[in-house]
Amino acid sequence: MQDFKKFEQIFEDYVNKFIEEADGDEEKILNLTNKKIHSYNVRDNIVKIAKEENLKVNMFIVEFIGLFHDIGRFYQYDKYRTFNDAYSKNHAELSVKVLEDEGIIKLVDYEDRAYIIDSILMHNMQDLPKIEDRKMYLYSALLRDADKLDGFRTITVYERANKKLAYFKNKSDEPIISDYIYNNIMNHKTVYKYDLKTILESQISTLGYISSDINFYTTYKIIKDNDYLPKMFAKMQDTPRSREIFEFVKAYVDEKLNENKNKNL
Ligand SMILES: [Fe+2]
Repeated sequence: MQDFKKFEQIFEDYVNKFIEEADGDEEKILNLTNKKIHSYNVRDNIVKIAKEENLKVNMFIVEFIGLFHDIGRFYQYDKYRTFNDAYSKNHAELSVKVLEDEGIIKLVDYEDRAYIIDSILMHNMQDLPKIEDRKMYLYSALLRDADKLDGFRTITVYERANKKLAYFKNKSDEPIISDYIYNNIMNHKTVYKYDLKTILESQISTLGYISSDINFYTTYKIIKDNDYLPKMFAKMQDTPRSREIFEFVKAYVDEKLNENKNKNL
């Protein structure tokens, strides 16, 4: 197994170059720095979930996909000034391209490369496809949970009023949740996230991932331990729909945690 320290330095050097070259552009620095923080948080989350779940996985791969899954985001924002894939390019494909073009993937053991590339390519798909290879499934599922967990955290800290945040940019402040989003969440279905019209829709569809796209007990546990649900809801407009979805997802998390507790007895 390879030592990860060297790769952390490669990540730092690559990312800091974009931030330094932003040359005082506050909005750009804010959004790139948030992505850098996000990458480290996802790395910490994925390591934590893999350990708590006692999974037989290669921790080098786990740590690598956590930190590098969004490496294409820096080029994406630099070139297109958005994190919206629909208005730019698929950022998972960009991440793989950076790993290849920068010669980073070549530094990884040959047998680990497919797990890294494929789990990164699958991290931003609306739904995880059926995967026969157990290890491939675990890396992909772990990355999606770790990524989502940091998405929940950001909702608890992002102020709606901050229009410099790419997450809220070009979205209306009207307290509207479309029928499509409402119905999908209430049916445990994921939502296509690059076509959201209001800030409330962005926030509630992120919250909705909790009842549609979480793979591990530990992830529910972290959501509960950090009080993410009430903290997320506190940042949103309180409407009949947002409240109904909040209560629905809250009951779902309690149900999942209870199910698992009973299984362990
Ligand atoms: Fe991503």
